[in-house]
Amino acid sequence: MELKLWLSFLMLHVIPDVQSANTQWIIDVPSRIPAVQGSCVVIPCSYAYPKPRSKTILNSWRGFWKRGNKIVSTNLRKWKLTEEFKKRTQLLGNLGARNCTMLLDGVRSTDVGPFHFRIEIPQYKSFSFVEKTVSIDVIRKPDPPSMSVEVADKVKVSCSVFHSCPTNLPTFSWSRSGVVTRRSKKLNKWKWETKSTLTFVPIYPDSKKTLNCTVKYRGGKKAEGSITLQI
Ligand SMILES: *[C@@H]1O[C@H](CO)[C@@H](O)[C@H](O)[C@H]1NC(C)=O
Ligand SMILES: *[C@@H]1O[C@H](CO)[C@@H](O)[C@H](O)[C@H]1NC(C)=O
Repeated sequence: MELKLWLSFLMLHVIPDVQSANTQWIIDVPSRIPAVQGSCVVIPCSYAYPKPRSKTILNSWRGFWKRGNKIVSTNLRKWKLTEEFKKRTQLLGNLGARNCTMLLDGVRSTDVGPFHFRIEIPQYKSFSFVEKTVSIDVIRKPDPPSMSVEVADKVKVSCSVFHSCPTNLPTFSWSRSGVVTRRSKKLNKWKWETKSTLTFVPIYPDSKKTLNCTVKYRGGKKAEGSITLQI
C-alpha cells in the first residue's frame, strides 16, 4: 500500500475507535447498591469527558451528586446543602482525576435515589449524567451472618457479612470467649466482606454448645447468627 493510502486507512479504521473514548461523556457507576439503614454506602464512580480541542488548561472541577433537581453532595465547600443531606454526604473522589466517588452516611429509608452525577468544568463544559443513575436498596433488617466452623486442636468459628460501608466496618461480638480477629476484603467496586474469627481451645462444656455471633452495623442495626459445635 502507498503511504498515503495506508494513512487514510488508518484514519478511517483505527483513529475513530481511539477517538470515541475521547469524544464522549462517560460515567462508570453501579446501577444499584444495597446498604443497611443507618449505615453508610460508598458509591464508586469514575467519569471521562471529551478531550478539549483547545489547549486550555483545566484546573477547576465542580461536582454535584443529585436526586432530580436536589443537590445531595458537592465538592464546593461553601455550598449549603438542604437539611436532608447536610453532614451526611461527602464527595470522596478527586474530580480532577475523574473520580466522582461519593459517601452517603446515616442511610435513611428515603435514600433510594435515583442519584446522578453532574460535572461542571468552568474552562470547558458541563454535563449531567442523567442516563446512568444509582439507586440504593435500603436494608431495614439485615440478614443473619454466615457462619462456619473448623475443628482441629483449636476450634475456629467464623462469622461474616457483606456490606457497602468500608469507612465504618461492622463490629462483632461472640457469646463465648476466645481470641477474636477481624478481616475485611473488597469483593467488587462496592461490595465488601467483613469476617470475624473466634479461636479457642475446646473444653468439655463446649460439646454441642451453640455459639452466637452478633454483628452490629454502623448506625446500630444488628443481626445475629448461631452455630452448634459438633464436638
Ligand atoms: C476513587 O476515590 C476513592 C475515594 O478516595 C478511592 O477509594 C478509589 O480507589 C478511587 N478510584 C479510583 C478508580 O481511583
Ligand atoms: C444464642 O442465641 C439463641 C437464639 O438464637 C438464644 O436462645 C441463646 O440464649 C443465645 N445464647 C447466648 C449465650 O447468648
